[in-house]
Amino acid sequence: MEKTLVLIKPDATERNIIGSIISFYEKQGLKISQMQMMEASVEKATLHYSEHIGRPYFDELISYITRSPLCALVIEGEDAINKVRKINGNTDPEKADKNTIRGSFGLSKTENSVHASDCSENAQREIKIWFS
Ligand code: PPS
Repeated sequence: MEKTLVLIKPDATERNIIGSIISFYEKQGLKISQMQMMEASVEKATLHYSEHIGRPYFDELISYITRSPLCALVIEGEDAINKVRKINGNTDPEKADKNTIRGSFGLSKTENSVHASDCSENAQREIKIWFS
């Protein structure tokens, strides 16, 4: 069993599509083991996206992720990290398959509806940031 961190991001919470997004994971047999609505502070958002500090889109990313509440989830299951990333789809919604979350709901590379951990080390790090 593996755990991964998912954030349902502001563009999605603002459009009332949290339930539709969660059903993508549940339909694939994954379990929601923790879930909470929260406001991301600039400090927390910067810690979460620390790998992206210095990238040209960083300021836009922090201002977007802190603008409205987000829904943080810990999702559990066999091979959960890879499964969730496949369900989410490509970072760029224009390149994402239509049957993925980003292909269905994403608006742009920044406003792409969901985040998921990319490896086990980052899953542990990110779960601590949002659920400690
Ligand atoms: S990349 O392109 O390989 O660095 O993309 P990735 O590592 O999957 O995720 C990058 C995260 O930064 C957010 N973001 C952008 N990425 C690329 N270009 C632009 N302009 C951009 N703006 C924001 C993107 O949504 C990814 O966020 P998360 O939450 O990790 O999916």
